[in-house]
Amino acid sequence: MTKRVAILISGGGSNMVSLVKIMQQDAQCNAKPVLVLANSDTAGGLAKAADLGVDTQVVDHRPFKGDRVAFEAVLHDVIEKYSPDIICLAGFMRVLTPSFIDKWTGKMLNIHPSLLPKYKGLHTHQRAIDARDMVAGCSIHVVTSELDGGPVLAQAKVAITPDDTADTLAAKVLVQEHKLYPAALKEFVRV
Ligand code: GRF
Repeated sequence: MTKRVAILISGGGSNMVSLVKIMQQDAQCNAKPVLVLANSDTAGGLAKAADLGVDTQVVDHRPFKGDRVAFEAVLHDVIEKYSPDIICLAGFMRVLTPSFIDKWTGKMLNIHPSLLPKYKGLHTHQRAIDARDMVAGCSIHVVTSELDGGPVLAQAKVAITPDDTADTLAAKVLVQEHKLYPAALKEFVRV
């Protein structure tokens, strides 16, 4: 059965586009995009999703003034209307509480721009440069209640060169993200 996929974004949505494209263009990918949801109506990815013919929704976190549980209750209700089997977090910049995550155990994926378990959290590229690492990369993992701590499904590596800044490294890693996440999703829905 084709898996229904909801994608949560906060920004430009380039990873979301790569996920939607594999689902729409690869007949061997056993999934279809049913929703792109952002936590702000300024998220650039919303227009890209609409252009690709995917339903969009916004659940703005700001009116909830830090009440994560109340925000997530609305988030969950909106998502449930689309009956997804899987949620893909793609640059979704809100920390989710265990009570939300528990509703999607084993069904929610995330992309993180580091070679986990290294550099959970933010500023991953600068931290890799500061540590004088030779290699950086990105990881796809199953979301658990430990931030960026769930089982890793796939990783891609890039070399860090002496002239790299956080921005140039982020750009190199993003190229790999756009290949890795669709491939990992395709594999995830295959089994
Ligand atoms: C990506 O680098 C992702 O790994 C990080 O935020 C960025 C989102 O980019 N968490 P986009 O919105 O997919 O273009």
